[in-house]
Amino acid sequence: MGNCYSDPSDGLDIDNLDCEMSDMLKRKMNSINFKNDVKVRTNQEILSGYNIIKPLGSGLFSKVYLATDQNGKKFAVKIVKKQDFQVSETIQKIILEKEILKLVEHPNILKLYRSVQSDSRIYFFLEYASKGNILQLLNIKGRLDANEVRVVSAQIIEAILYIHSKGIIYGDLKAENVLIASNGLIKLCDFNLSGTKSILSDKMQGTICYISPEIIKEKKRTRMSDFWALGVLVHLMFYRRYPFRFNNQTDLFYNIINCNIEPEKNEVKAPSSLRRFIGDLLCREVNKRLGKSLDDFINHPFFAGFNWNGYKRDPESFKFAEKIPESENVDSKSDSKTNSDIDDFINIKMTPTTRPIYNIEGFTYDSGAKDLMGNSEHKVSTKEDLETSEANTT
Ligand code: ADE
Repeated sequence: MGNCYSDPSDGLDIDNLDCEMSDMLKRKMNSINFKNDVKVRTNQEILSGYNIIKPLGSGLFSKVYLATDQNGKKFAVKIVKKQDFQVSETIQKIILEKEILKLVEHPNILKLYRSVQSDSRIYFFLEYASKGNILQLLNIKGRLDANEVRVVSAQIIEAILYIHSKGIIYGDLKAENVLIASNGLIKLCDFNLSGTKSILSDKMQGTICYISPEIIKEKKRTRMSDFWALGVLVHLMFYRRYPFRFNNQTDLFYNIINCNIEPEKNEVKAPSSLRRFIGDLLCREVNKRLGKSLDDFINHPFFAGFNWNGYKRDPESFKFAEKIPESENVDSKSDSKTNSDIDDFINIKMTPTTRPIYNIEGFTYDSGAKDLMGNSEHKVSTKEDLETSEANTT
């Protein structure tokens, strides 16, 4: 461990991309207008025609639900309460997330079909990944073997390099944000902490176990910080525990900065190429860290003989996903949620006086995927519709 794989060629002119992308995204973030007279739909109108089936997960400001449309097609609906917007930075982050999701189109990135707002909520209609996330997979299946780690990592690498090619840093790679679709394909989700290098500078955000030394020391995030996080994730997938032990945050940050990786017990012996892969990702020196280009990975011993062009067509690659029952896909935190909680988020009972006044001009987005979002005509729902939806939310 700790060996740095070095490749002097940085194939990506991230700084140029960063400038263009930052300009565009900053313009979008700074041109937010809040207007009371922006025409918005009611929550009931937005959700009419959909059945809310069950909660899938929750974040700081949002909840995600599984929903079906009138044709039985499944979606993940992320709902953000506008009440939670205390500071304009939070709103800017949501705009940024929407703009980034609109920009990216990749088989390993969760697709945004549509975004829409009501007076009190923001809705993202997203692709549904029916087999949950990597953390849930580790809980169901135990650790992944080296071949499984390779296939999952390859897809994450392709997605991250694609995101970087747009001048964007993903910013929150972690097991919970790596979803698995019904066919076993990996889908990165949650672009809440994403942005360009300059937008993210001076911000020490992220999930602490995945934070890289340069973020802790200098609050400096580069696209290479995403590959540090991949090192943590690969370690977690294989050993089923994080590389850096800690009793508290100070402990953890000390171990991260000094690269004190806890030695593993003998019974889970990783192949040496995998150990080297983890070590080359968890390399303190940013310019020696693995991940400058796809060649870094193609030429790495861990991927020796790996068919980068054909692995997605090989059913063997996705065998691990067959073992995951789709019904397991319920966030454990949300599992115990009661109907009244769902009521609070879905069946909105706000009176006009308690409504926040900010409607975001120009928020609505529709990818035009009519085959998947067939019901573009939304009828106003009746009381019966809401009651049916309530009855379905068990
Ligand atoms: N949890 C959060 N987002 C999800 C999605 N799109 N599909 C499945 N589970 C999720």
